Amino acid sequence: MPAEPEIEAAAVGLRRQLADQLEKNGRLRSRQWRAAVEAVPRHAFIPRFYRESDAPGVTAWEPVTPEIAGQEEWLRLVYSDETWMTQFDGGDIDWADPQPISNAAPTSSSTLPSLVVRMLEDLDVHEGMNVLEIGTGTGYSTALMCHRLGSERVTSVETDEGVARRARDALATAGYSPHLLVGDGSVGHLDGAPYDRLIATCGFRNIPPAWLEQVLPGGVILTTLRGWMRSLGLVKLIVTGDSASGWFSEDDPSFMIARQQDAPKSLGTVPGPDDGTTRSAVGGPEILTCPGSAFMAQLAVPDARFFSMPVDGGTVGTFVLDSVTDSFAVLASTESGWRVRQGGPRRLWDAVESAVGTWEEYGSPSTAAFGLTVARDAQVVWLGNPSGPQWPLTS
Ligand SMILES: C[S@@+](CC[C@H](N)C(=O)[O-])C[C@H]1O[C@@H](n2cnc3c(N)ncnc32)[C@H](O)[C@@H]1O
Repeated sequence: MPAEPEIEAAAVGLRRQLADQLEKNGRLRSRQWRAAVEAVPRHAFIPRFYRESDAPGVTAWEPVTPEIAGQEEWLRLVYSDETWMTQFDGGDIDWADPQPISNAAPTSSSTLPSLVVRMLEDLDVHEGMNVLEIGTGTGYSTALMCHRLGSERVTSVETDEGVARRARDALATAGYSPHLLVGDGSVGHLDGAPYDRLIATCGFRNIPPAWLEQVLPGGVILTTLRGWMRSLGLVKLIVTGDSASGWFSEDDPSFMIARQQDAPKSLGTVPGPDDGTTRSAVGGPEILTCPGSAFMAQLAVPDARFFSMPVDGGTVGTFVLDSVTDSFAVLASTESGWRVRQGGPRRLWDAVESAVGTWEEYGSPSTAAFGLTVARDAQVVWLGNPSGPQWPLTS
Protein backbone atom coordinates (compact mmCIF):
# COMPACT_ATOMS: atom_id res chain seq x y z
CA MET A 1 0.00 0.00 0.00
CA PRO A 2 1.45 3.41 -0.88
CA ALA A 3 1.74 5.75 2.08
CA GLU A 4 -0.44 8.88 2.37
CA PRO A 5 2.17 11.26 0.80
CA GLU A 6 2.30 9.00 -2.25
CA ILE A 7 -1.50 9.25 -2.64
CA GLU A 8 -1.26 13.03 -2.35
CA ALA A 9 1.50 13.17 -4.95
CA ALA A 10 -0.46 11.00 -7.40
CA ALA A 11 -3.66 12.99 -6.70
CA VAL A 12 -1.97 16.28 -7.63
CA GLY A 13 -1.22 14.95 -11.11
CA LEU A 14 -4.70 13.45 -11.51
CA ARG A 15 -6.35 16.74 -10.49
CA ARG A 16 -4.31 18.59 -13.08
CA GLN A 17 -5.37 16.05 -15.72
CA LEU A 18 -9.01 16.41 -14.66
CA ALA A 19 -8.78 20.21 -14.87
CA ASP A 20 -7.23 19.90 -18.38
CA GLN A 21 -10.09 17.63 -19.44
CA LEU A 22 -12.78 19.96 -18.03
CA GLU A 23 -11.15 22.94 -19.71
CA LYS A 24 -10.99 21.09 -23.03
CA ASN A 25 -14.69 20.17 -22.94
CA GLY A 26 -15.56 23.79 -22.14
CA ARG A 27 -16.99 23.18 -18.66
CA LEU A 28 -14.12 24.85 -16.81
CA ARG A 29 -13.79 28.39 -18.09
CA SER A 30 -12.01 30.48 -15.48
CA ARG A 31 -8.63 30.61 -13.79
CA GLN A 32 -10.25 30.77 -10.32
CA TRP A 33 -12.32 27.60 -10.67
CA ARG A 34 -9.35 25.82 -12.25
CA ALA A 35 -7.33 26.66 -9.15
CA ALA A 36 -10.11 25.18 -6.99
CA VAL A 37 -10.27 21.94 -9.03
CA GLU A 38 -6.48 21.62 -8.78
CA ALA A 39 -6.53 22.21 -5.01
CA VAL A 40 -9.53 20.29 -3.62
CA PRO A 41 -8.77 16.62 -2.91
CA ARG A 42 -11.88 14.79 -4.22
CA HIS A 43 -10.48 11.61 -2.66
CA ALA A 44 -11.09 13.05 0.80
CA PHE A 45 -14.81 13.31 -0.05
CA ILE A 46 -15.27 9.89 -1.65
CA PRO A 47 -12.92 7.53 0.18
CA ARG A 48 -15.45 4.76 -0.69
CA PHE A 49 -18.27 4.77 -3.21
CA TYR A 50 -20.41 2.66 -5.54
CA ARG A 51 -20.29 2.46 -9.32
CA GLU A 52 -22.86 0.96 -11.66
CA SER A 53 -21.96 -2.59 -12.55
CA ASP A 54 -21.71 -3.76 -16.17
CA ALA A 55 -23.67 -6.94 -15.44
CA PRO A 56 -26.70 -7.36 -17.73
CA GLY A 57 -30.20 -7.30 -16.23
CA VAL A 58 -31.38 -5.11 -13.37
CA THR A 59 -29.40 -1.97 -12.52
CA ALA A 60 -26.87 -2.88 -9.85
CA TRP A 61 -23.97 -1.12 -8.16
CA GLU A 62 -20.67 -2.48 -6.90
CA PRO A 63 -18.50 -1.06 -4.14
CA VAL A 64 -15.21 0.70 -4.91
CA THR A 65 -12.66 1.11 -2.13
CA PRO A 66 -8.85 1.19 -2.19
CA GLU A 67 -8.90 -2.34 -0.75
CA ILE A 68 -11.32 -3.76 -3.36
CA ALA A 69 -10.16 -1.92 -6.49
CA GLY A 70 -6.52 -1.37 -5.52
CA GLN A 71 -5.21 2.05 -4.49
CA GLU A 72 -4.16 3.16 -7.97
CA GLU A 73 -7.43 2.22 -9.70
CA TRP A 74 -9.52 3.71 -6.86
CA LEU A 75 -7.66 7.02 -7.16
CA ARG A 76 -7.97 7.01 -10.95
CA LEU A 77 -11.75 6.53 -10.63
CA VAL A 78 -12.02 9.24 -7.97
CA TYR A 79 -10.52 11.78 -10.39
CA SER A 80 -12.50 10.67 -13.43
CA ASP A 81 -15.41 12.75 -14.67
CA GLU A 82 -18.08 10.47 -13.24
CA THR A 83 -20.86 10.59 -10.67
CA TRP A 84 -20.18 8.13 -7.85
CA MET A 85 -22.95 6.92 -5.54
CA THR A 86 -22.48 7.17 -1.81
CA GLN A 87 -25.91 6.30 -0.40
CA PHE A 88 -29.00 4.26 -1.37
CA ASP A 89 -32.54 4.45 -0.01
CA GLY A 90 -31.41 6.88 2.68
CA GLY A 91 -29.58 4.13 4.61
CA ASP A 92 -26.02 3.82 5.83
CA ILE A 93 -23.69 1.46 3.96
CA ASP A 94 -21.85 -1.17 5.97
CA TRP A 95 -18.35 -0.31 4.78
CA ALA A 96 -16.84 -3.06 6.98
CA ASP A 97 -18.33 -5.56 4.54
CA PRO A 98 -19.67 -3.71 1.46
CA GLN A 99 -21.92 -5.78 -0.81
CA PRO A 100 -23.21 -5.22 -4.35
CA ILE A 101 -26.52 -3.33 -4.31
CA SER A 102 -29.57 -3.67 -6.59
CA ASN A 103 -33.25 -2.75 -6.40
CA ALA A 104 -32.36 0.44 -4.59
CA ALA A 105 -32.57 4.15 -5.39
CA PRO A 106 -29.45 6.31 -5.05
CA THR A 107 -30.07 9.06 -2.47
CA SER A 108 -26.65 10.73 -2.30
CA SER A 109 -23.66 10.99 -4.60
CA SER A 110 -20.66 12.98 -5.67
CA THR A 111 -21.83 14.61 -8.89
CA LEU A 112 -19.59 14.35 -11.96
CA PRO A 113 -17.01 17.18 -11.81
CA SER A 114 -17.92 18.56 -15.26
CA LEU A 115 -21.47 19.28 -14.08
CA VAL A 116 -20.32 20.63 -10.71
CA VAL A 117 -17.84 22.98 -12.35
CA ARG A 118 -20.17 24.04 -15.15
CA MET A 119 -22.80 25.02 -12.56
CA LEU A 120 -20.22 26.91 -10.51
CA GLU A 121 -19.13 28.80 -13.63
CA ASP A 122 -22.81 29.54 -14.46
CA LEU A 123 -23.36 30.79 -10.91
CA ASP A 124 -21.21 33.80 -11.77
CA VAL A 125 -19.70 34.34 -8.32
CA HIS A 126 -17.25 37.06 -7.38
CA GLU A 127 -15.01 37.56 -4.39
CA GLY A 128 -16.91 38.72 -1.31
CA MET A 129 -20.20 37.04 -2.26
CA ASN A 130 -22.24 34.86 0.10
CA VAL A 131 -23.45 31.56 -1.35
CA LEU A 132 -26.13 29.17 -0.12
CA GLU A 133 -25.81 25.60 -1.37
CA ILE A 134 -28.68 23.11 -1.09
CA GLY A 135 -27.58 19.45 -1.06
CA THR A 136 -24.13 19.23 0.58
CA GLY A 137 -23.80 15.56 -0.37
CA THR A 138 -20.18 14.50 -0.01
CA GLY A 139 -19.10 18.12 0.46
CA TYR A 140 -16.92 18.20 -2.69
CA SER A 141 -18.79 21.07 -4.37
CA THR A 142 -18.96 22.87 -1.02
CA ALA A 143 -15.17 22.58 -0.76
CA LEU A 144 -14.66 24.03 -4.25
CA MET A 145 -16.72 27.07 -3.21
CA CYS A 146 -14.82 27.39 0.08
CA HIS A 147 -11.56 27.38 -1.85
CA ARG A 148 -12.80 30.10 -4.18
CA LEU A 149 -14.71 32.36 -1.76
CA GLY A 150 -13.46 31.45 1.71
CA SER A 151 -15.31 29.12 4.11
CA GLU A 152 -17.03 31.99 5.90
CA ARG A 153 -18.84 32.92 2.67
CA VAL A 154 -20.33 29.45 2.14
CA THR A 155 -23.45 27.97 3.77
CA SER A 156 -24.60 24.48 2.82
CA VAL A 157 -27.74 22.55 3.81
CA GLU A 158 -28.04 18.75 3.68
CA THR A 159 -31.21 16.90 4.60
CA ASP A 160 -29.60 13.60 5.65
CA GLU A 161 -27.89 13.59 9.03
CA GLY A 162 -25.38 10.81 8.25
CA VAL A 163 -24.45 12.34 4.88
CA ALA A 164 -24.05 15.76 6.53
CA ARG A 165 -21.81 14.32 9.27
CA ARG A 166 -19.50 12.64 6.76
CA ALA A 167 -19.34 15.83 4.68
CA ARG A 168 -18.46 17.87 7.78
CA ASP A 169 -15.61 15.48 8.63
CA ALA A 170 -14.28 15.45 5.06
CA LEU A 171 -14.43 19.24 4.80
CA ALA A 172 -12.56 19.58 8.09
CA THR A 173 -9.91 17.08 6.92
CA ALA A 174 -9.44 19.10 3.74
CA GLY A 175 -9.12 22.30 5.81
CA TYR A 176 -12.53 23.93 5.15
CA SER A 177 -15.10 25.14 7.69
CA PRO A 178 -18.25 26.42 5.94
CA HIS A 179 -21.58 26.91 7.75
CA LEU A 180 -23.19 23.47 7.56
CA LEU A 181 -26.81 22.80 8.41
CA VAL A 182 -28.91 19.66 8.54
CA GLY A 183 -32.44 20.22 7.29
CA ASP A 184 -34.74 20.70 4.34
CA GLY A 185 -33.05 23.12 1.93
CA SER A 186 -36.43 24.29 0.63
CA VAL A 187 -36.61 26.61 3.65
CA GLY A 188 -33.09 27.91 2.97
CA HIS A 189 -31.26 29.23 6.03
CA LEU A 190 -32.67 32.53 7.20
CA ASP A 191 -29.97 33.21 9.81
CA GLY A 192 -27.27 33.31 7.14
CA ALA A 193 -29.30 35.46 4.68
CA PRO A 194 -29.11 37.49 2.55
CA TYR A 195 -27.23 35.50 -0.08
CA ASP A 196 -25.85 36.72 -3.40
CA ARG A 197 -26.12 33.29 -4.96
CA LEU A 198 -28.10 30.08 -4.32
CA ILE A 199 -27.16 26.78 -5.95
CA ALA A 200 -29.09 23.52 -5.52
CA THR A 201 -27.57 20.13 -6.32
CA CYS A 202 -30.79 18.22 -5.82
CA GLY A 203 -33.87 18.76 -7.99
CA PHE A 204 -37.02 20.62 -6.89
CA ARG A 205 -40.55 20.50 -8.36
CA ASN A 206 -40.75 24.28 -8.13
CA ILE A 207 -38.81 27.20 -6.64
CA PRO A 208 -39.30 27.31 -2.86
CA PRO A 209 -40.64 30.76 -1.84
CA ALA A 210 -38.03 31.04 0.96
CA TRP A 211 -35.27 31.19 -1.66
CA LEU A 212 -36.74 34.37 -3.15
CA GLU A 213 -36.86 35.94 0.29
CA GLN A 214 -33.26 35.02 1.13
CA VAL A 215 -31.51 35.91 -2.14
CA LEU A 216 -30.73 39.59 -2.72
CA PRO A 217 -32.30 41.49 -5.64
CA GLY A 218 -29.98 41.00 -8.62
CA GLY A 219 -28.85 37.68 -7.13
CA VAL A 220 -28.86 34.33 -8.90
CA ILE A 221 -30.75 31.10 -8.16
CA LEU A 222 -29.32 28.13 -10.07
CA THR A 223 -31.19 24.85 -9.70
CA THR A 224 -32.41 21.83 -11.56
CA LEU A 225 -36.14 21.27 -11.65
CA ARG A 226 -37.55 17.79 -11.44
CA GLY A 227 -40.85 16.16 -12.14
CA TRP A 228 -42.02 12.72 -11.18
CA MET A 229 -41.50 11.42 -14.74
CA ARG A 230 -38.21 13.14 -15.56
CA SER A 231 -35.93 16.09 -14.96
CA LEU A 232 -36.88 19.49 -16.37
CA GLY A 233 -33.23 20.49 -16.54
CA LEU A 234 -31.26 23.40 -15.22
CA VAL A 235 -32.68 26.88 -14.80
CA LYS A 236 -30.85 30.12 -13.92
CA LEU A 237 -33.03 32.80 -12.37
CA ILE A 238 -32.25 36.42 -11.62
CA VAL A 239 -34.05 37.65 -8.52
CA THR A 240 -35.85 40.97 -8.72
CA GLY A 241 -37.42 41.66 -5.33
CA ASP A 242 -40.25 39.22 -4.71
CA SER A 243 -40.07 37.60 -8.14
CA ALA A 244 -37.44 35.91 -10.28
CA SER A 245 -37.10 35.01 -13.92
CA GLY A 246 -34.67 33.30 -16.26
CA TRP A 247 -33.92 30.66 -18.88
CA PHE A 248 -33.46 26.90 -18.96
CA SER A 249 -30.12 25.62 -20.24
CA GLU A 250 -29.64 23.93 -23.62
CA ASP A 251 -28.94 20.48 -22.19
CA ASP A 252 -31.08 19.13 -19.39
CA PRO A 253 -28.86 17.82 -16.61
CA SER A 254 -30.60 15.85 -13.93
CA PHE A 255 -30.17 15.57 -10.16
CA MET A 256 -31.92 13.31 -7.67
CA ILE A 257 -35.17 14.85 -6.48
CA ALA A 258 -35.26 16.61 -3.09
CA ARG A 259 -36.26 13.93 -0.62
CA GLN A 260 -39.34 15.70 0.68
CA GLN A 261 -40.69 16.06 -2.88
CA ASP A 262 -40.37 12.50 -4.10
CA ALA A 263 -43.47 10.92 -5.68
CA PRO A 264 -45.88 9.07 -3.40
CA LYS A 265 -45.19 5.32 -3.23
CA SER A 266 -48.60 4.46 -4.67
CA LEU A 267 -48.88 5.07 -8.39
CA GLY A 268 -52.66 5.48 -8.03
CA THR A 269 -55.64 3.33 -8.97
CA VAL A 270 -55.09 1.18 -12.05
CA PRO A 271 -58.26 1.56 -14.18
CA GLY A 272 -60.39 -1.44 -15.09
CA PRO A 273 -60.68 -2.52 -18.76
CA ASP A 274 -64.05 -0.76 -19.25
CA ASP A 275 -63.22 2.50 -17.47
CA GLY A 276 -62.94 5.77 -19.39
CA THR A 277 -63.60 6.84 -22.95
CA THR A 278 -61.49 5.87 -25.96
CA ARG A 279 -60.30 7.82 -28.98
CA SER A 280 -57.49 7.54 -31.49
CA ALA A 281 -54.20 9.14 -30.41
CA VAL A 282 -51.72 11.13 -32.50
CA GLY A 283 -48.65 9.46 -31.01
CA GLY A 284 -47.72 6.61 -28.70
CA PRO A 285 -45.69 6.13 -25.51
CA GLU A 286 -42.47 7.31 -27.21
CA ILE A 287 -43.79 10.83 -26.52
CA LEU A 288 -43.04 10.16 -22.85
CA THR A 289 -39.42 9.17 -23.44
CA CYS A 290 -38.08 11.21 -26.39
CA PRO A 291 -36.23 14.19 -24.84
CA GLY A 292 -38.19 17.16 -26.31
CA SER A 293 -41.69 15.70 -26.16
CA ALA A 294 -41.04 14.13 -22.74
CA PHE A 295 -40.11 17.59 -21.40
CA MET A 296 -43.49 18.83 -22.71
CA ALA A 297 -45.34 15.86 -21.21
CA GLN A 298 -43.73 16.54 -17.83
CA LEU A 299 -44.90 20.16 -18.02
CA ALA A 300 -48.40 19.17 -19.14
CA VAL A 301 -49.13 16.48 -16.52
CA PRO A 302 -46.81 17.29 -13.60
CA ASP A 303 -48.40 14.85 -11.15
CA ALA A 304 -48.43 11.85 -13.50
CA ARG A 305 -46.21 8.79 -13.82
CA PHE A 306 -46.27 5.96 -16.34
CA PHE A 307 -45.48 2.29 -16.72
CA SER A 308 -46.22 -0.46 -19.21
CA MET A 309 -47.91 -3.82 -18.64
CA PRO A 310 -49.96 -6.32 -20.61
CA VAL A 311 -53.59 -5.36 -21.24
CA ASP A 312 -56.39 -7.45 -22.75
CA GLY A 313 -55.28 -9.99 -25.30
CA GLY A 314 -51.66 -9.82 -24.11
CA THR A 315 -50.78 -6.58 -25.93
CA VAL A 316 -48.73 -4.11 -23.90
CA GLY A 317 -50.46 -0.94 -22.71
CA THR A 318 -48.81 2.17 -21.31
CA PHE A 319 -50.60 3.48 -18.23
CA VAL A 320 -50.26 7.18 -17.38
CA LEU A 321 -51.61 7.67 -13.85
CA ASP A 322 -52.08 10.87 -11.88
CA SER A 323 -52.56 9.84 -8.27
CA VAL A 324 -53.20 13.43 -7.17
CA THR A 325 -56.36 13.93 -9.28
CA ASP A 326 -57.02 10.20 -9.78
CA SER A 327 -56.96 10.52 -13.56
CA PHE A 328 -55.65 8.04 -16.07
CA ALA A 329 -54.77 7.50 -19.72
CA VAL A 330 -54.01 4.09 -21.20
CA LEU A 331 -52.25 3.90 -24.56
CA ALA A 332 -52.46 0.78 -26.68
CA SER A 333 -51.50 0.12 -30.29
CA THR A 334 -54.02 -1.18 -32.80
CA GLU A 335 -53.63 -2.11 -36.45
CA SER A 336 -54.65 1.40 -37.45
CA GLY A 337 -52.40 3.25 -34.96
CA TRP A 338 -52.47 4.32 -31.31
CA ARG A 339 -55.63 4.55 -29.21
CA VAL A 340 -55.99 6.15 -25.80
CA ARG A 341 -58.56 5.46 -23.09
CA GLN A 342 -58.92 8.31 -20.57
CA GLY A 343 -60.85 8.86 -17.35
CA GLY A 344 -60.95 10.95 -14.18
CA PRO A 345 -61.16 14.71 -13.74
CA ARG A 346 -58.12 15.47 -16.00
CA ARG A 347 -57.82 14.28 -19.57
CA LEU A 348 -54.11 13.54 -19.25
CA TRP A 349 -53.40 12.57 -22.85
CA ASP A 350 -55.35 15.57 -24.18
CA ALA A 351 -53.04 17.78 -22.11
CA VAL A 352 -49.91 15.95 -23.34
CA GLU A 353 -50.94 16.15 -27.00
CA SER A 354 -51.82 19.82 -26.69
CA ALA A 355 -48.44 20.70 -25.12
CA VAL A 356 -46.49 18.64 -27.67
CA GLY A 357 -48.55 20.24 -30.47
CA THR A 358 -47.65 23.73 -29.26
CA TRP A 359 -43.98 22.77 -29.05
CA GLU A 360 -44.07 21.41 -32.61
CA GLU A 361 -45.77 24.61 -33.87
CA TYR A 362 -42.75 26.49 -32.47
CA GLY A 363 -40.35 24.23 -34.41
CA SER A 364 -39.66 21.64 -31.65
CA PRO A 365 -37.03 23.82 -29.93
CA SER A 366 -34.54 22.69 -27.30
CA THR A 367 -35.05 23.48 -23.61
CA ALA A 368 -33.00 26.68 -24.10
CA ALA A 369 -36.14 28.21 -25.70
CA PHE A 370 -37.99 27.91 -22.37
CA GLY A 371 -37.93 30.19 -19.36
CA LEU A 372 -39.41 30.33 -15.90
CA THR A 373 -41.02 33.21 -14.06
CA VAL A 374 -41.57 32.88 -10.34
CA ALA A 375 -43.87 35.27 -8.50
CA ARG A 376 -45.41 35.05 -5.05
CA ASP A 377 -48.67 33.53 -6.31
CA ALA A 378 -47.61 31.52 -9.39
CA GLN A 379 -44.68 29.85 -11.14
CA VAL A 380 -44.94 29.44 -14.90
CA VAL A 381 -42.70 27.91 -17.53
CA TRP A 382 -43.02 29.80 -20.81
CA LEU A 383 -41.92 29.18 -24.36
CA GLY A 384 -40.09 31.88 -26.31
CA ASN A 385 -40.81 34.84 -24.04
CA PRO A 386 -42.70 35.50 -20.79
CA SER A 387 -45.95 36.14 -22.67
CA GLY A 388 -45.61 33.03 -24.88
CA PRO A 389 -47.41 29.72 -24.25
CA GLN A 390 -47.30 28.84 -20.54
CA TRP A 391 -47.49 25.84 -18.23
CA PRO A 392 -47.78 26.26 -14.45
CA LEU A 393 -45.32 24.46 -12.19
CA THR A 394 -47.13 22.43 -9.59
CA SER A 395 -47.05 23.92 -6.07
C1 LIG B 1 -26.38 14.85 -5.89
S1 LIG B 1 -26.16 14.94 -4.17
C2 LIG B 1 -25.19 16.38 -3.91
C3 LIG B 1 -23.84 16.36 -4.55
C4 LIG B 1 -22.88 17.27 -3.85
N1 LIG B 1 -23.13 18.65 -4.08
C5 LIG B 1 -21.45 16.86 -4.15
O1 LIG B 1 -20.73 17.59 -4.82
O2 LIG B 1 -21.06 15.80 -3.67
C6 LIG B 1 -27.75 15.55 -3.64
C7 LIG B 1 -27.85 15.70 -2.14
O3 LIG B 1 -29.02 16.45 -1.84
C8 LIG B 1 -29.50 16.00 -0.61
N2 LIG B 1 -30.89 16.45 -0.46
C9 LIG B 1 -32.03 15.86 -0.93
N3 LIG B 1 -33.09 16.60 -0.59
C10 LIG B 1 -32.63 17.68 0.10
C11 LIG B 1 -33.25 18.79 0.71
N4 LIG B 1 -34.58 18.95 0.67
N5 LIG B 1 -32.47 19.70 1.34
C12 LIG B 1 -31.11 19.55 1.39
N6 LIG B 1 -30.48 18.50 0.84
C13 LIG B 1 -31.22 17.58 0.19
C14 LIG B 1 -29.34 14.49 -0.69
O4 LIG B 1 -29.38 13.89 0.57
C15 LIG B 1 -27.99 14.40 -1.38
O5 LIG B 1 -26.96 14.28 -0.45
